[in-house]
Amino acid sequence: MTTVEWSTLYRDHLTTVRSRADTALERAGLDHLVVPSGTLHYQVFDDRDYPYAVNPQFKAWLPLTRNPGSWLVHTPGQRPRLLYLQPRDYWHVVPRAPSGHWVPEFDIVVIRTPEEALQHLPGDPARCAILGEPQSALGGYVPGNPPAVVDYLEYHRAFKTPYEIAMMREATVRGVRGHRAAERAFRAGASEFGIHLAYCQAAGQDSETLPYGNIVALNEHAAVLHYTDRDRVPPEPVRSFLIDAGASHGGYACDITRTYSANPADEFQALVDAVDAAQQAMCAQVRAGHDYRQLHLDAHLALAAILRDFGILSLSPEAALETGVSSVFFPHGIGHGIGLQVHDVAGFASDDRGGEPLPKPEGHPYLRLTRTLAPGMVVTIEPGIYFIDMLLEELRAGPHAGAVDWARVDAFRPYGGIRIEDDVVCTEGDPVNLTREGFAA
Ligand code: GLY
Ligand code: MN
Ligand code: MN
Repeated sequence: MTTVEWSTLYRDHLTTVRSRADTALERAGLDHLVVPSGTLHYQVFDDRDYPYAVNPQFKAWLPLTRNPGSWLVHTPGQRPRLLYLQPRDYWHVVPRAPSGHWVPEFDIVVIRTPEEALQHLPGDPARCAILGEPQSALGGYVPGNPPAVVDYLEYHRAFKTPYEIAMMREATVRGVRGHRAAERAFRAGASEFGIHLAYCQAAGQDSETLPYGNIVALNEHAAVLHYTDRDRVPPEPVRSFLIDAGASHGGYACDITRTYSANPADEFQALVDAVDAAQQAMCAQVRAGHDYRQLHLDAHLALAAILRDFGILSLSPEAALETGVSSVFFPHGIGHGIGLQVHDVAGFASDDRGGEPLPKPEGHPYLRLTRTLAPGMVVTIEPGIYFIDMLLEELRAGPHAGAVDWARVDAFRPYGGIRIEDDVVCTEGDPVNLTREGFAA
């Protein structure tokens, strides 16, 4: 995309963000939206700081992710103001002068110390909706996060602007680069640690910028849903590889998982292929008006059918779902909203006024999104089949043990598990799969 196209997209995005802020302020009866970018946090009894994480309410306005101590001020009818902290400091790299397509849209005041912001914030903190963490308090400007404002903004953040989708496409380009390098490293016999480094190198990001900690799992480790250890030595033999790794761009995330068998001709690869085909059918259901909870329950039926086809379960898919047996093999949700945060906010919101949360289906405590899909929403679709010792032991000790071919389970156990995860945009028509597009490019 050209600079002009980016500028146009961004300007339209900002119009939406400003109009949402206007409504939120009106509902709260307040005059100004004030958003600190956040501060550095320090380790206890130490002078070491944790990696800085920008306030998502701040990066919703502009693609600044490494500017602690800055402030955004929005007053309806006025150009937004950015108090841009550029400290005098020879110990650290300080933020460069503001640059980028967002700059012309703001009144920018460069400040040299965090306290200087006080001279430029609106006069009366009591008339401000201040959104942020407690540590960002400055003088009388204490983040109060008024629910009327937060509920409105978070609910509507589910609906991405075209600019936001373009940003997620850029994040995906990086993520796909990383995934390709990771697969090559796996095929070349690298350890989990080595694969992780290959990923970071190709994506051009590490823990400071990745939207979440990489999951790089060989063999049985793939059965640990959030496996974030990284063995320095590859196992012998290497059988399988699950990688759940994303990337970020201007504060927007992608979240991608792929699973491979070391032997492309073995039965585990056939199981991966079956999950992959089912996953693509699930992605096709990301359509306006569809209840995401139903997608989750349908995923259980599809995965249980695969388990039956592979001779692992003898139950019908409906019975596997009904009895909870499918949850032994698929013990997490089908996905979540994604955007500025990898697990986007307001997944259970029934409305933009903080109404009663939309409940999860009974027996499915880990589903993170229960809303009905609508154009602009971006969600992950991430079905999986895992062989998790703890859950299998419980199943074996329970009333449905007879519905399982345990020899088949034991044959798959050394491979750990499978997850395939894409990021999919709900539109007025057919869904757009950002991840498959990224891999196809
Ligand atoms: N990478 C975390 C998740 O898939 O939700
Ligand atoms: Mn995910
Ligand atoms: Mn993931």
